[in-house]
Amino acid sequence: MKNITFIVGSLRKDSFNRKLAAMAEKMLSGRFDIHYLDFQDVPLMNQDMEAAVPAEVARVRKEILAADGIWIFTPEYNFSYPGLLKNLLDWLSRPMDISDFTNPSAVVGKKVTVSGAGGQNQTASCRAKLNELLEFIKMRVMPAPQTGIALGVEAWTKGEFNLTDEQRAQLKEQAENFAAFVGE
Ligand SMILES: Cc1cc2nc3c(=O)[nH]c(=O)nc-3n(C[C@H](O)[C@H](O)[C@H](O)COP(=O)(O)O)c2cc1C
Repeated sequence: MKNITFIVGSLRKDSFNRKLAAMAEKMLSGRFDIHYLDFQDVPLMNQDMEAAVPAEVARVRKEILAADGIWIFTPEYNFSYPGLLKNLLDWLSRPMDISDFTNPSAVVGKKVTVSGAGGQNQTASCRAKLNELLEFIKMRVMPAPQTGIALGVEAWTKGEFNLTDEQRAQLKEQAENFAAFVGE
C-alpha cells in the first residue's frame, strides 16, 4: 500500500483543518497508509544549523522521503499561508547534503495537493500562494481540484465543524483525483 503524508498547517488543538484532514483520511482509508507529519518541534530556519542538521529536521525529512504523496490542510493567515508551514517547507526545500547544492531536497518531485478551511475567502489566497511556493521548490502540485471551505457560523460561534453535502463532494472529488495522481 502506498503512503500519503498529511500536513496540517495549524497547531490549534481543535483545528478545523485537522478535522478536515480526518474527513479526507476516512475517504482514503484502506487504500493508502495515512500518516500525519508532526513538525511542531522543527526549529526556526537558521542556516548556521544546516551543517549539523537538527534531529527534528532529519526526522521530518525521512518521513517526507517515505511518502508517495503529500496532502496539506491549512488555514489562511493574513491572505497567505501560516509561518509555521513556511518554516517547515524552507527546511524541506534545502538539499539534504548542503556540501553540494545539486543534491536533491526531500521534497523534490513529490506529489502534493492542498486544501484549506478558513473565512469567506475559502483560503483561496493562501492556496494560490502555497501552490506557487510548492512549485518553486519543485514539488509536483496536482493542478485541480482543490478544496476551499468557508467555515459556517456554527464553527465561529460554537467550534463545530460540519461540511455541506456540496463541500463533502468537493473533498471526495479531490481525494479521488489525488488517489489517481499518486496511483493506488
Ligand atoms: C494570524 C491570523 C490571521 C488570519 N487571517 C485570516 C485570513 O486572512 N483569512 C481567513 O479566512 N482567515 C484568517 N484567519 C482565521 C483562520 O482562518 C481561522 O481561525 C481558522 O479557523 C484557523 O484554522 P484552524 O481551525 O485549522 O486553526 C486568521 C487567523 C489568524 C490566527
